[in-house]
Amino acid sequence: MDTQSALRRRHSTRQFSPRPIDDAVIDAILDDAREAPSWSNTQPWRVAVANGAVCDSLRHDLMAAAASRAPSPDYPQLFEYPPLLQARRRATGFGLYEKLGIAREDKEARARQFEKNFAIFDAPAALFLYAHKALEHYAVLDAGCFLMALLLSATARDVSTCAQAVLASFPDVVDRHFRRTSEGSAEKNDVDDDWKLLCGVAIGYAADDVVNTFRPARIPVAELKALPR
Ligand SMILES: Cc1cc2nc3c(=O)[nH]c(=O)nc-3n(C[C@H](O)[C@H](O)[C@H](O)COP(=O)(O)O)c2cc1C
Repeated sequence: MDTQSALRRRHSTRQFSPRPIDDAVIDAILDDAREAPSWSNTQPWRVAVANGAVCDSLRHDLMAAAASRAPSPDYPQLFEYPPLLQARRRATGFGLYEKLGIAREDKEARARQFEKNFAIFDAPAALFLYAHKALEHYAVLDAGCFLMALLLSATARDVSTCAQAVLASFPDVVDRHFRRTSEGSAEKNDVDDDWKLLCGVAIGYAADDVVNTFRPARIPVAELKALPR
């Protein structure tokens, strides 16, 4: 699949089929994503892969955490959205609820849909993307390039995904499932204190569900370009 087709075809999947995904397919996608550019080629990203039973255990623990305490993400999630961005955010949120037949004022149904985030949308696997804390926003920018490469590779391989910042709400829960050592003593594959959890990615195969037909609008090119003097 060429890049342009992958860009146009990729969309977020919010209900997965139970079909398992092979570790080899995930590795092939990560192998593609390695090609992502980064400043000085530092590749300041790390991925924790939860497939099958590990993903189920994480799903269970994340749902329990979400039901019992406030999020404590490595990167703050509480923003004041300026009107320009808030309008786009609301339009996207309401568009999704409309697709699902959820009324705007039905807060309970909206909360139930939101909670599905912690169930990882029933995906058979999830990836947890970390950025190195030393490079601050540039590590995040580089990790964003990696994320996009990963999403496009998955699309080209007929694998469905949903990037989920919500899955970074409880880093301690994710940590429990992966080797984590304290700073300085880490081996190559450990997630140590140098790494901050940026987001999760649900990954697997899309279920035949109306939620997966949602296509939120994009701003036109004319609107995203700054005008010359
Ligand atoms: C970094 C990032 C974090 C996201 N976090 C969430 C999330 O927590 N939950 C969710 O349902 N969608 C999440 N999304 C998906 C966006 O809502 C989605 O990409 C956007 O609405 C555009 O829709 P599309 O991906 O279907 O083209 C996230 C996307 C990105 C890039």
